[in-house]
Amino acid sequence: MLDRRVVLITGAAHGIGLAAAERLARDGYHVVIADRAPEVPSTSARYVQADVSDEASVQSLIYGIRQEEGRLDGLVCNAGFMIRKPIAELSLAEWSSVLATNLTSTFLLVKAAEDLLRGAGGGSVVTVASTRAHQSEPNTESYAASKGGLLALTHALAISLGPAIRVNCVSPGWIDTKAEHLRDEDHAQHPVGRVGRPDDTASLIAWLLGPESGFVTGAEFVIDGGMTRKMIYAE
Ligand code: NAI
Repeated sequence: MLDRRVVLITGAAHGIGLAAAERLARDGYHVVIADRAPEVPSTSARYVQADVSDEASVQSLIYGIRQEEGRLDGLVCNAGFMIRKPIAELSLAEWSSVLATNLTSTFLLVKAAEDLLRGAGGGSVVTVASTRAHQSEPNTESYAASKGGLLALTHALAISLGPAIRVNCVSPGWIDTKAEHLRDEDHAQHPVGRVGRPDDTASLIAWLLGPESGFVTGAEFVIDGGMTRKMIYAE
């Protein structure tokens, strides 16, 4: 068994997950990344190609951690994606694929890894939902439903698995993961004066995984530069 804390982060080949993986490695964790992407980012993490919406794939991933690392102290359920389509054009298969990755994967991961997380003597799970669990743009039904479900699953798990395992949710607003060209007004509309960065979410995830958040479970942390606190009625 490793003598360092072990954390598994899903969907960490890119974006919010990758920044969290890099941050947690700097903090001294042994990091395992699971992503369906074939490209391996150049991090110190152990990389496993896995589709977390698939039960056999999740079971094999957790079996590998049992064999290789022998412990699991933290789990970050971050993998997710969005389909934007009018509901009349959204197929049942598309709806189900979004729900499977964004919501069901957390059920599968926690189910498979519960005993490992209990064994850690203070396991911590962080789910990555979205401010879209609370508010919407048009044509995002499957994504909003998946993130609302994930938020509810978070508090349900916190109640079932405590005190051994804490479970909390991070709900980001706009985090620039694509290094796209951002306009001045993109930044200025945020009460903090800027769009979010992957490092912003990484520090919150790191705090939630660690012992300093030991009195926190079942909670949601909105990290959106204040956008969901802003009234937007037209003048
Ligand atoms: P991203 O698209 O940059 O990275 C997501 C990663 O998840 C990709 O590497 C992708 O290959 C992986 N992935 C997707 N489905 C998977 C599956 N079934 N199995 C394994 N890996 C899978 O996304 P980003 O922006 O870093 O988002 C991460 C999480 O944060 C997602 O859950 C997203 O919904 C959430 N989020 C992101 C926001 C943003 O502004 N970037 C805002 C609110 C929430």
